[in-house]
Amino acid sequence: MTSLVTTITETLRYRGAIGQWSWVLHRVTGLGVVLFLTLHVIDTSWAVFWPALYEKAIAIYQTPIFTIGEFALTACVIYHALNGVRIALFDFRPEWWKHQAKAAQLVLLGTILILIPTFLAMFGHVLAYYNESPQMLSLLEVLREQIPFVIGIGGAVALAVILAVLTQPFLSDSKKPTQKPRGSRLERFWWSFMRASGIAIVPLVFGHLAMIHLIQGVFEITAASHVVVATDLVNVSGTATEFVAHRWNFLFAGVAIWRLYDIALLALVTVHGFNGLRYVLTDYTTQSPLLRRAATYLVTIGAAVLLAVGGAALLGTIEPSAIDIAEEAQARLFGEIAAPEIVPEATEAPASGG
Ligand code: HEM
Ligand code: HEM
Repeated sequence: MTSLVTTITETLRYRGAIGQWSWVLHRVTGLGVVLFLTLHVIDTSWAVFWPALYEKAIAIYQTPIFTIGEFALTACVIYHALNGVRIALFDFRPEWWKHQAKAAQLVLLGTILILIPTFLAMFGHVLAYYNESPQMLSLLEVLREQIPFVIGIGGAVALAVILAVLTQPFLSDSKKPTQKPRGSRLERFWWSFMRASGIAIVPLVFGHLAMIHLIQGVFEITAASHVVVATDLVNVSGTATEFVAHRWNFLFAGVAIWRLYDIALLALVTVHGFNGLRYVLTDYTTQSPLLRRAATYLVTIGAAVLLAVGGAALLGTIEPSAIDIAEEAQARLFGEIAAPEIVPEATEAPASGG
């Protein structure tokens, strides 16, 4: 905790060059994407396990607060990807380090240049949606739906700390780490993995975002009678569940390509993101071996849960009955919201007219 406070105050006080700010931005954007990924994998799995809740999750994605978050998420992914490629390239070509300040500026410029057309295209989808005066969940409802996630994350933190306390007596003194074991063979593996996985993630995550932000847009996930992006299947019911079913069932040359694509995406981003989270957490817990161990347990629990839940969904089947449940849930969702607005108008009309 002390080291976290020191990092923040020193970052603000120290007038470092662009390299220092790109380090901060890389860290903040990486953490932002890990947080989103945690919610996203859990809620995508509901398309298989809990279709009614998945309809609500996508309705939440379509609210103004999540739309703002979607723009921020896109900016985070693009900056983190470009800066990550810069780090990986410079690590493999140490002789380029003298150009690192210029490269950091190029990353910023590249991010802005990619973001301008991306944001314009995304904004086009937002405007088209809002022009149709859609029904929306209230901010209160959106916030209320986040409570289970907060409880889940809190529970994982508590479990990690309990495990760290329970395993303390079994560790010999030589196994009680006081410093980040950066030099070990395992850490060298993770160092290479972070670079290799980062490069592999670039086309996967950019492709995923291009399909679901640019070509189709988050709002069209629930558009009825729409051809689902990168498939030839039509989302007849206009439910998010049917959208995912078509994405994962679409066969190209007999292969469920989007299922395979998402398996690769899930595995790489989860392991990369949670190992990155371990770097950050262990950096801020150097004073306490117990908390450092808890940090390692936490990222292991987090990654294992996401891989298990996301993997189970990707290997599961969305039955036609799930789409019926989703349709009912969608009707109930917006029926509930429309009710309080319509009833007072109907009762007030005769009074003002007469
Ligand atoms: C899009 C392609 C990506 C590239 C090229 C990339 C690259 C990198 C690189 C090179 C590092 C530094 C590793 C080190 O210090 O040894 C890193 C750290 C990190 N990455 Fe990524 N990454 C990408 C995507 C992601 C995604 C999708 C997430 C989240 C799910 C993520 C989360 C993190 C985190 C939390 C860190 C640790 C930051 C720190 O130590 O300050 N990255 N990334
Ligand atoms: C607001 C932005 C996003 C939306 C609306 C979105 C939407 C979706 C949808 C509809 C699916 C279902 C299958 C499919 O169509 O491929 C999916 C799956 C997935 N997405 Fe995203 N996505 C977003 C951003 C991201 C980002 C930034 C990442 C990576 C960091 C990501 C990682 C994944 C993964 C790993 C899966 C498989 C999930 C599972 O197995 O449960 N998504 N996404």
